[in-house]
Amino acid sequence: MTIPESELPVAVFDSGVGGLTVLHECLVSLPHEDFLYLGDTARFPYGVRPADQLLSFALELSDILLERGAKLVVVACNSATAAALPALRERLAGRVAVVGVVAPESRLAAAATRNGRVGLIATPATVASGAYDRALAQASAGRAELHAVAAAELAPLIQAGGEVDERTVACVERACGPLRDADVDTVILGCTHYPLVRPLLQRTLGRGVKIVTSGEAIAAEVERELAGRGLAAPADRRGRYGFLASGDPEEFRRLGIRFLQLPIARVGHVQVARPAPSEPAGAEAA
Ligand code: DGL
Repeated sequence: MTIPESELPVAVFDSGVGGLTVLHECLVSLPHEDFLYLGDTARFPYGVRPADQLLSFALELSDILLERGAKLVVVACNSATAAALPALRERLAGRVAVVGVVAPESRLAAAATRNGRVGLIATPATVASGAYDRALAQASAGRAELHAVAAAELAPLIQAGGEVDERTVACVERACGPLRDADVDTVILGCTHYPLVRPLLQRTLGRGVKIVTSGEAIAAEVERELAGRGLAAPADRRGRYGFLASGDPEEFRRLGIRFLQLPIARVGHVQVARPAPSEPAGAEAA
């Protein structure tokens, strides 16, 4: 029996467990949809890789997910979105629509800022791409200015799964200092790992600063995209969700439960092309 397209899962991928902060919002907002998440943990981190490499990874992961059946692809990784979204959309045109995290987050930031000064903390790859400069300029019709800080160490520290310790505090301090100096009133967390240290970021930035995350931006975008294409699953069904990882599945499961804050029963393993060595993609500031 063929499954109706509307009942296929929404495919979601990231370099690791960070995208689970996006999946969390989707599962809470769209409990009737199925989701299949792939964490490319064998090739983490993405944030220091060049754009052409991120595009080839994104295409490979999309193919793996589409072979299993998916009605929409969500790139739950800012580095991959910033580097590869237009090219990925073009390559998958006619097969499936692709949703990324940069534009929806920029729209939220443009709507939130009162003084027109918006901060961005992201990986070197994301900052170097200039994707947020373009997206925020478009979303605010040129009225908001972006102050970007590249934080090379923060996502790896979070992905390592240790306690929030002095190293994390120092890293967050280095990232937030220039944003406080620039008097931003809104900060985009431009990496899906960062919501895991949101209390530390909020405390360091100050209570009055509005933090915008990929998760809150993307759930509404997925809902809109599915409705617009007539692909929404019936609202009265209960959705399921599953997981794949290119690295150690048990390690993904253990760490993933903390990120997702929902149960993860089983994680399947997928083979990806050999991890290439990481290369710096931009300036490192934090
Ligand atoms: N979660 C990924 C992002 O949103 C980045 C972490 C990494 O792989 O460097 O950019």
